[in-house]
Amino acid sequence: MKAVIESIGIYVPDRRMSNDEMAQIVDTSDEWIYSHTGIHNRHIAAPDEAASDLGAAAARKALDAAGIGPEEIDLVLLATSTPDYVGLPSTACVVQDSLGISNAGAMDVMAACSGFVYALETARNFVEAGTAGKVLVVGAEVYSKIINWQDRTTCVLFGDGAGAVVVSAADDSSESWVGKALLASEGKEAESLYRSHGGTRNRYVEGETPEEELYLKMNGRRVYNFAVRAVIDTIQHLLDEAGMRFEDLDYVVPHQANARILEAAAKRKGWDIDKFYINIAEYANTSAASIPIALGEMQAKGMLKRGMKLATVGFGSGLTYGGSLISW
Ligand code: UT7
Repeated sequence: MKAVIESIGIYVPDRRMSNDEMAQIVDTSDEWIYSHTGIHNRHIAAPDEAASDLGAAAARKALDAAGIGPEEIDLVLLATSTPDYVGLPSTACVVQDSLGISNAGAMDVMAACSGFVYALETARNFVEAGTAGKVLVVGAEVYSKIINWQDRTTCVLFGDGAGAVVVSAADDSSESWVGKALLASEGKEAESLYRSHGGTRNRYVEGETPEEELYLKMNGRRVYNFAVRAVIDTIQHLLDEAGMRFEDLDYVVPHQANARILEAAAKRKGWDIDKFYINIAEYANTSAASIPIALGEMQAKGMLKRGMKLATVGFGSGLTYGGSLISW
């Protein structure tokens, strides 16, 4: 049994915010943001839009594209670090209900910006084990609601969006497949990218917890250096395992955190940067949604042909990283 990506759906909020608009909020500029990250715009969810709203919109499109009804889904996996609720219930359950998926388990996968890679690998295992025929894998994020809009070192980097795929079982002879992933974690770096308060380690205490402690904090330099290494190690691992050379890949579909990270990794290895699909200019960093949004765009542009070899690579808070080889 093989696991294949049967369809994709993506959804980004209409509201688009340029770097120039960002410069009216914090002391920054289009020049600084673009030169350091490759970002020009990001999309921002409406005040009443939560992660599940974006995720459900993308998931509905993925089901429509597969031509299947909600009753055919056996499992809903939703990757997010901006859940609808704090800890419980899973945002996956909210999406399951919005879509009327009635015969499926539902759970969140929490691996921050590596979340889609982790969730896809979980789906692959369920499908290959024969315990699920069709798994809905969603990456949905609303970072605009957890960033500190007064901190220019982080708020310029993120955007909101969602992507979803239906992962289905196929014969061993299938030319399309999702390969075994590399999943990795460096938990000692947990506080390089995190929200320090509001959880059970540092509870929110009214009148005591400063508001900025509830928002995302990041040691940018540390994460940058880790990310370059993670991109190199993941792709090299996938190539070695498959006995392939970089030239054998059609595309790398990376997490979109910073175009400069990808350029630095490619340069260090002598890899062709043009094989990296980069759309960060339009969406900024949408965390667990960035890889499925990229896949959805590539498909819409007609870039993906049956049997093409893609490598996904994700990295982020945890610190986590990983990726998998996909035969389209
Ligand atoms: O999904 C994974 C999560 N995140 C990442 O992968 C992000 C990893 N890190 C990065 O991408 C980069 O470290 C950043 C883009 C966040 C920052 O770039 P940098 O080249 O490491 O800048 P820096 O933090 O060293 O700051 C350089 C200067 C500082 O000014 P001084 O101290 O040299 O005077 C900052 O205050 O740039 C300043 N700065 C800004 N200036 C204008 C920082 N943010 C901004 C800003 N606009 N938005």
